[in-house]
Amino acid sequence: MAERVYETLHQLETEALQELDAITDEKTLDEWRVRYLGRKGKATLAVRRLKELPPEERPAYGKAVNALKERLLAALEAKQEALKAQALAAELQVEAFDPTLPGRQPSLGRYHPSNLVLREIIDIFRQMGFQVLFSPEVETDDYNFGLLNIPPGHPARDMWDTFYTTREGVLLRTHTSPGQIWAMRQFAPEPIRVILPGKCYRYEQVTARSEMMFHQVEGLAVGKHITFADLKGTVVNFIRQLFGPERQLRFRCSHFPFTEPSVEVDMDCILCQGKGCRVCKYTGWLEIMGAGMVHPVVLRNGGYDPEEVTGFAFGMGPERIAMLRYGIDDIRYFFSNDIRFLQQFG
Ligand code: DAH
Repeated sequence: MAERVYETLHQLETEALQELDAITDEKTLDEWRVRYLGRKGKATLAVRRLKELPPEERPAYGKAVNALKERLLAALEAKQEALKAQALAAELQVEAFDPTLPGRQPSLGRYHPSNLVLREIIDIFRQMGFQVLFSPEVETDDYNFGLLNIPPGHPARDMWDTFYTTREGVLLRTHTSPGQIWAMRQFAPEPIRVILPGKCYRYEQVTARSEMMFHQVEGLAVGKHITFADLKGTVVNFIRQLFGPERQLRFRCSHFPFTEPSVEVDMDCILCQGKGCRVCKYTGWLEIMGAGMVHPVVLRNGGYDPEEVTGFAFGMGPERIAMLRYGIDDIRYFFSNDIRFLQQFG
């Protein structure tokens, strides 16, 4: 009697495990669970046969049924794990995803080399009490030329050919110098010390040395008793902060219609220390900026009385400074958007 009961139990286990073995999907697996381990499942109901046994054998049978249920449950869990692993492997085959590969670095933004140098320039001038202003990139002929003492037909206009809009007398500025007029008209008759960074445009053949768009930083100081010595002191201090305290400077006579006198400022070549090399074209000097004392006509156009105040101004190109600083030999790299170039800065 007892033997038969145990045999049935044993058969039940064999049958359950065989069925389990053949299962390949979760739905069938769940049906299996209900069939054997559910409230009315075969293993659950097996305990009822207790009645067929003499009382003293019943506890042992009860234990045997419980042990069976635990084994079935363990087998069920193992099967669940196996199915999950199989499903993942299948998915990986289809999607070719390798979870052991390192994650992809999101690419962080960084400063463009022009902006990097612009920010350094701004920082240095801010220390010297200059405030930063911005003026329009789309200008009138008057602001870009006329008010800067470059009347129509003036030969100096040849140096600053630009892009004209379809609106008469409206153009893309060729330099940041018109910002001088904006600044003066905003603050006259008060003294000012400003720098004006921004984009400029020229209608030119694009080469390693010239782009049709580039940046400039304009500087302007207007007030009583401002002299050429102030200009020199400001420029020398600026260059030595940017390029190192050992830099030598040279102020060379030049001409700009909006300054009188006008100079071009050179510093000794940072590559050869003035001995002469390819970068400085064997002169030992690198041109850094144009500058001068603001022309009385320009002061008057800005709203100042040239009998009362004087001023100095300068203009420079941050791309040129970045080229010298980082040894870049072609200005076209700045705006051709080659990530391999841009990633080297910032
Ligand atoms: N605007 C000039 C240029 O684009 C540069 C310049 C020269 C600016 C002398 C100045 C200056 O303020 O005083 O070539």
